[in-house]
Amino acid sequence: MPPKEKLLHRRVFILLPGNLEQAGSVSGDVRRELVALGVEQDIVRRAGVVCFEGEMNIAMYSEGGRIILLVADDRVELLFSDRGPGIPDIELARTPGYSTAPDWARELGFGAGMGIPNMEHQSDRLEIRSRLEGGTVIRAVFRRGRG
Ligand SMILES: Nc1ncnc2c1ncn2[C@@H]1O[C@H](COP(=O)(O)OP(=O)(O)OP(=O)(O)O)[C@@H](O)[C@H]1O
Ligand SMILES: [Mg+2]
Repeated sequence: MPPKEKLLHRRVFILLPGNLEQAGSVSGDVRRELVALGVEQDIVRRAGVVCFEGEMNIAMYSEGGRIILLVADDRVELLFSDRGPGIPDIELARTPGYSTAPDWARELGFGAGMGIPNMEHQSDRLEIRSRLEGGTVIRAVFRRGRG
């Protein structure tokens, strides 16, 4: 049996609804914490991108939620959960270019429909679960090399 992974760090970030000015700040904190914990540079970069896209989506489409950062010796995980409308068609949401971003968000440069595809590309595994009129849960995993 493989040795059980060791949890090194756990941190919860609360995201209040409609706080677009502050959106993006969690990914900065996540990058700093990962650097301080000595996590591989490549994972710091990829987790920063995934976190940014995830927190922008929570800010833009949900009524608030949270992001949990887990660091273990064998992996890093980001868990996004929100209360909100949910994603009616997850396959469609994973498709590059698909976006329901409102005009005001497009004027700010969002709405390319590349956030979720980018999260998939930058993580080693991305799981999306959603409940209509309930909310969305996304789990991103980054595998660390052992030893
Ligand atoms: N947390 C969420 N709750 C509800 N719907 C979401 C959520 N996250 C994403 N979506 C839906 O999935 C679509 C695709 O998301 P994605 O992040 O790929 O693109 P975008 O946010 O529209 O544009 P971009 O991220 O490129 O600025 C969104 O337009 C929205 O309809
Ligand atoms: Mg997005």
